[in-house]
Formats: sequence, structure tokens, C-alpha cells
Amino acid sequence: MPVITVDNLVKRFAGRAVLAGVSLRVEPGETVAVLGRSGTGKSVLLKSIIGLMDPDEGRVTILDRDLHAMSEAERLHARKDIGYVFQGAALFDSLTVQENVGFALYQLRVPEEEIREKVRERLRMVGLEHAIDQYPSELSGGMQKRVGLARAIINLPKVVLYDEPTTGLDPVTTDVINQIILRLRAKLGVTSVVVTHDVKSAFTISDRIIMLDQGRIVAEGTPEQIQASDNTWVQHFIHGRALESERVDTKLLPVVPRVSVRVRRAAAADNAPIAGAERRDTPSAAMPIPTLTPTPLASPEVVEPDDFTPNDESPAG
Ligand SMILES: Nc1ncnc2c1ncn2[C@@H]1O[C@H](COP(=O)(O)OP(=O)(O)OP(=O)(O)O)[C@@H](O)[C@H]1O
Ligand SMILES: [Mg+2]
Repeated sequence: MPVITVDNLVKRFAGRAVLAGVSLRVEPGETVAVLGRSGTGKSVLLKSIIGLMDPDEGRVTILDRDLHAMSEAERLHARKDIGYVFQGAALFDSLTVQENVGFALYQLRVPEEEIREKVRERLRMVGLEHAIDQYPSELSGGMQKRVGLARAIINLPKVVLYDEPTTGLDPVTTDVINQIILRLRAKLGVTSVVVTHDVKSAFTISDRIIMLDQGRIVAEGTPEQIQASDNTWVQHFIHGRALESERVDTKLLPVVPRVSVRVRRAAAADNAPIAGAERRDTPSAAMPIPTLTPTPLASPEVVEPDDFTPNDESPAG
């Protein structure tokens, strides 16, 4: 039984279909990455899954419930098993980190001491225990993002939806977030959908990748299948190259002075410079393409949920 089902989802704004018939299934314990260009409807898809936006056509269920058919009060209750990491951190500026992370617990009137303890545990997971009494304005963008993640997992939900969890983060913090996503899956069997532009993260964390373009799924498969895809659009996306039709006419750009480098022959017998031999070094379009190798998932040994902390020696924020 899938944890998430999306059937023929259509969402329009001002008559334009941002999602033009998207269908997908996410199985229990699966991590699905959704990749796609900016403005292609990824956030709209996540918001439709969690019931923040109602579909114009089609049907969405999560944990066997159709949130769109519920009253607002029922939705709030149903969402207690679902964590949502917003694209911006979406923290409350006037609340401390503790109040932000523990927000759902305050609403449930959990005793203050219990809240503080739980919040502390989640902050430890994202390497931010020391920031518990600070305000969002005192934190860097990366730290705010991690607070948003701590808030999403405060109740150790069965499903977590991540909207760009690593965008704008430094490589070390990105790795911390990726490790958290992997460990939630391995140790708690959490089902996740991770919307991202970060191709490397998608290959590292996901069991399956779905690629969206202009509101439609254009490719779907395991990281290995996506990497081996002969679809031109897919290859251009994962290697970060513009399609021919999108290339800027460089003749319209101002001329950049070229750097001349004297080339020396490295032959053992003749180390003398070759008179007049010059090479014009220009930015090359033929840069080697890095190979993306998916990292194997952490072994699912049984450990208490609160027993894991990311190996984050120096949270950079
Ligand atoms: N509430 C809204 N009202 C009107 N248009 C909207 C609304 N939300 C999204 N859109 C439009 O839907 C399209 C897709 O937006 P969405 O935020 O899903 O893109 P995205 O794929 O998440 O992009 P990014 O990678 O930049 O976050 C955009 O053209 C956006 O302007
Ligand atoms: Mg988005």
C-alpha cells in the first residue's frame, strides 16, 4: 500500500496549468527525490500533497487519507504524522528557536520541560543545540534551514516532505542534512519526498528520482537508471548544461580580454621554451563531466530513534 498516491494532479494558476497531470506513488520507507528546473511546479506538488493547496483535478492521498476532502481541523490532526520542511525556513521571527521547533507541542499543551527536552534532542540532530534560546534573526540562513528541519521532525513523523532542504547550504552542512534524511529512513523507516535542485544530493539520498519539467513527469527511475538515461533533457539537467535552444547568444555579451599563456614543452631532452608558441586560454565548454556515484544507504541497524546524531563536528550554518 503506497504511503503517497498522486493521480492525474492538475493545478492551474490564472488558467495556466502549472501541474498538467502528474501521477506518482511513494512506497513505505522509500525516499523519492523530485528534480526539476525553477518554476516547474515542484513546490506546488509538495503543497498539494500535504493539503496546503487543493488540486483543480485529480486526487492525492497520504497515509490513506484524502486531506483535500477534510475540514481544516481534521487536516491539522492528520498532519501530526507528516513533517514538512518549507523551502524558506518559514520560522516565526518573534519566537525563539525552542518555541519554533516545539510549536506543534505547545499547541498540544505538552508540559514545558518535556518540550524543551524534545526540542534539545532534535536540535542535537541538526547540530544546533547551542541555538535553543536564540531568535531566527540571530541565525544564518543555513542555521534557520536546519531549525526548520528540526521542527519538521519534532514528532518523528512517518512521512517527511522536504522542499529544497540543502539549497544554499555549504557542502559540509549539506552532507549533515543528507545524513539526517538517510538515517531517518534507515532507522525509523520514514517515507520521504525531497524536492531539490541539488543533483548530487538526489543521487546520494534517494531510492528513486522523478524529474519534472513544465508540470509533467519527464523521467523516473533509480539514480542509476537516471544517470544512464539517453533522454537529452535528463542528461542536460544532471550535468547542469543548457539545451541548445536555451543558450545565450554570446556575441551579444561584452568581449572579455583573453589571457595568453606561454606553453613550455615538457620533453626531457629539450626544456627550452618554444619561441613564439602561445596558447589562448578561454573558458572551455568542454569541461569534463563529473560522474555521479550514488552513495550506498546506511545499513538499517536497529538503534533507538534519539540515539543518532549527525557527524557534524563544526556546524557551519
Ligand atoms: N499561490 C500561487 N499563485 C499563483 N501562482 C503560483 C502560486 N504558487 C506557485 N505559482 C506559480 O506556479 C509555478 C510553479 O511554482 P513552484 O513554486 O511550484 O515552482 P518550483 O518548481 O518549486 O520552483 P523553484 O525551484 O524556484 O522553487 C510558478 O510559475 C509560480 O509562479
Ligand atoms: Mg520551489
